[in-house]
Amino acid sequence: MALDLYSKVEDLFLDKEAADILWNHFIMLLKELNVKRVLDIGCGGGDFCLLAKNEGFDIKGVDLSKAQVQKALKKGCDCKAVDICELKETFETAVAVFDVINYLCENELKNFFACVEKVVERYFIFDINTLYAMEDLAIGTLKAESEDKFSVLYSEFENNKLITEITLFEKKDDKCFVKKQNKIIQYYHSVERIEKSTKMRLKEIIPISLYGSSEAEKLILVFEK
Ligand SMILES: C[S@@+](CC[C@H](N)C(=O)[O-])C[C@H]1O[C@@H](n2cnc3c(N)ncnc32)[C@H](O)[C@@H]1O
Repeated sequence: MALDLYSKVEDLFLDKEAADILWNHFIMLLKELNVKRVLDIGCGGGDFCLLAKNEGFDIKGVDLSKAQVQKALKKGCDCKAVDICELKETFETAVAVFDVINYLCENELKNFFACVEKVVERYFIFDINTLYAMEDLAIGTLKAESEDKFSVLYSEFENNKLITEITLFEKKDDKCFVKKQNKIIQYYHSVERIEKSTKMRLKEIIPISLYGSSEAEKLILVFEK
């Protein structure tokens, strides 16, 4: 699964300072909205989930990638590898932090939001990337390595799709590196398209710059049921 390969290289490429800016925006919003019980959709490696737990929120996570959920469980995040549409529990608020919604293609949006509407009592808060971030910032090649990994990401943007080819060489023993390769696709969605995909009401749009651009790279959208 491509998301599991992404999980293996995420730590090599994650800009922790930028992520912290975004995660703290979400914490601030949750506090402002005075919510306590939160579902973290696409909890990934569990960093946001843990931050929110330490800030006093009652938070649970779900992610489609088993590899991500294993990392999050090790960090102490209460989470499971399950599709949001299979959840029976309801939560005061759901969040989807750092690119989760980008992974849904246009045809998947309506069904995803219908499932979110079933589990959410009050708010759904998530970020989407701006066209500028996808078209201008995300494209090109990135390389990173650690003692036991060497990875390259190559990204192209065309027809509202950001296609990233992940290549990973992972050390298996002293002499051997095993090569793995897969593609992840992220989709640009306008606010209008998102609004048309849900019965929830758009309450607030917050433009965010994580990497110091003068143009917003992300929008945080707050939807209310
Ligand atoms: C860039 S990571 C962000 C992880 C985490 N939210 C954070 O802020 O660090 C995006 C995550 O979304 C997950 N994901 C993608 N599509 C999903 C979906 N439809 N439902 C649940 N998780 C999804 C991926 O497996 C990945 O772990």
